[in-house]
Amino acid sequence: MKKLYIRTFGCQMNEYDSGKMADVLGACEAYQRTDRPEEADVILFNTCSVREKAQERVFHDLGRVRALKAARPEIIVGVGGCVASQEGEAIVKRAPYVDVVFGPQTLHRLPQLIARRKESGRPQVDVSFPADEKFDALPSAREDGAAAFVSIMEGCSKYCTYCVVPFTRGEEISRPLEDVLAEISALAARGVREVTLLGQNVNAWRGALEKDGGGEVGDFAFLLECVQAVAGIERIRFTSSHPREMTPRLIEAFARLPKLAPQLHLPVQSGSGRVLAAMKRGYTVLEYKSVVRRLRAARPGLSLSTDFIVGFPGESEADFEKTMQLIDEVGFDGAFSFVYSARPGTPAADMEDPLPQETKLAWLARLQTRIDEQAQEISRAMVGGIERVLVEGPAKKNEAELSGRTANNRVVNFPAPPHAHARLIGQFVDVEIVTAMPHSLRGKLALKEERA
Ligand code: SAM
Ligand code: SF4
Ligand code: F3S
Repeated sequence: MKKLYIRTFGCQMNEYDSGKMADVLGACEAYQRTDRPEEADVILFNTCSVREKAQERVFHDLGRVRALKAARPEIIVGVGGCVASQEGEAIVKRAPYVDVVFGPQTLHRLPQLIARRKESGRPQVDVSFPADEKFDALPSAREDGAAAFVSIMEGCSKYCTYCVVPFTRGEEISRPLEDVLAEISALAARGVREVTLLGQNVNAWRGALEKDGGGEVGDFAFLLECVQAVAGIERIRFTSSHPREMTPRLIEAFARLPKLAPQLHLPVQSGSGRVLAAMKRGYTVLEYKSVVRRLRAARPGLSLSTDFIVGFPGESEADFEKTMQLIDEVGFDGAFSFVYSARPGTPAADMEDPLPQETKLAWLARLQTRIDEQAQEISRAMVGGIERVLVEGPAKKNEAELSGRTANNRVVNFPAPPHAHARLIGQFVDVEIVTAMPHSLRGKLALKEERA
């Protein structure tokens, strides 16, 4: 059997796409996944260009493949993802040993690209955006566990001034309602209990209610209602959502839909109105806080995580302090935070950016410390409580223990008798939280589960 190595950079959309790359190749010919590039017949890089560092890492890693290709010219080296989308032909110029270059919207053409590469003897590049062809051409999901990701939309039409994503992934397009529901029902039938709806801005999802286009269009809150109705699915999450499209209907969904997890990733980027405007985020700090207030009224105890960019061009000390203030006011339970990175071709890359990198790094460290403290406080407050946990499998560091996630998306490890593992994996169980660790919780099976 041929061996396939895929190295994934970037966000959850890329993680999802890497799974799909393996699926499309596997649909033509049997492949075995390997984590050793030196034994692979096909080596794929699924790349990210959101920050300069991520982009440079790709070329660094590609350099190491060069020797493998020289020793075994018959192997196929492919570059996909957002760097591929942005650079296209330039990748083959910089790294001539690359055989195929494909974008996030053309990964389903991978088998044809490889075949054409072999026939023609020349590298193949296809980074086009063939509308909604991708959703149609992908083989159906193969889950391995009780929790699965389901892509519901692609791309982004928001054009924040610092971001490459609208250019690398194209405009927002929604996957049709029927397809999403068919996939989720199929997953549920195979034992999946939790789904995470995936997209760059999931709350921009829109879908025709009838296939022949009766004219009525459903919004993301409607999609959530439909997923709530799928038997077997017991927990629903989604990521990412954009604050601009947190509609009253969607906020109300947190009150109405019990399967919706009490957890939301809602990227804010900055706590300064001036910086938000320069980023073209499309909301003010007050509007963001109002969304948070209404969400928490709809679902008390909702856990909120977010994204921050620190050191945006022109950001002042006072702007940064406003971000710190927002962190305290909202009580974020986790954040992805990075120093601003100028991306070629984006409007922010032309803005004056006089702030020294050390200042930005110092701000970032302060922000991250505060977020960690808050997350830790929330974890500690969970000790002694009972959490509904979806058991995913054996714990990473100790095979004798089991591991799962709480409703607010924390990993919990807990001991369980070996004979019960097979029965518990894939099920929801009640776990009493015993200790809060820095990045996970420790628990024990609640009494009722032990008796069972
Ligand atoms: N669509 C999501 C949203 O806007 O809420 C986020 C998607 S983006 C791939 C993930 C995160 O990367 C953003 O929320 C932002 O914090 C960060 N990011 C994007 N462009 C960046 C840049 N040029 N420099 C630093 N961080 C950046
Ligand atoms: Fe990038 Fe903004 Fe789109 Fe998010 S909403 S992907 S940050 S352009
Ligand atoms: Fe990176 Fe593309 Fe995701 S730029 S963060 S892989 S959408």
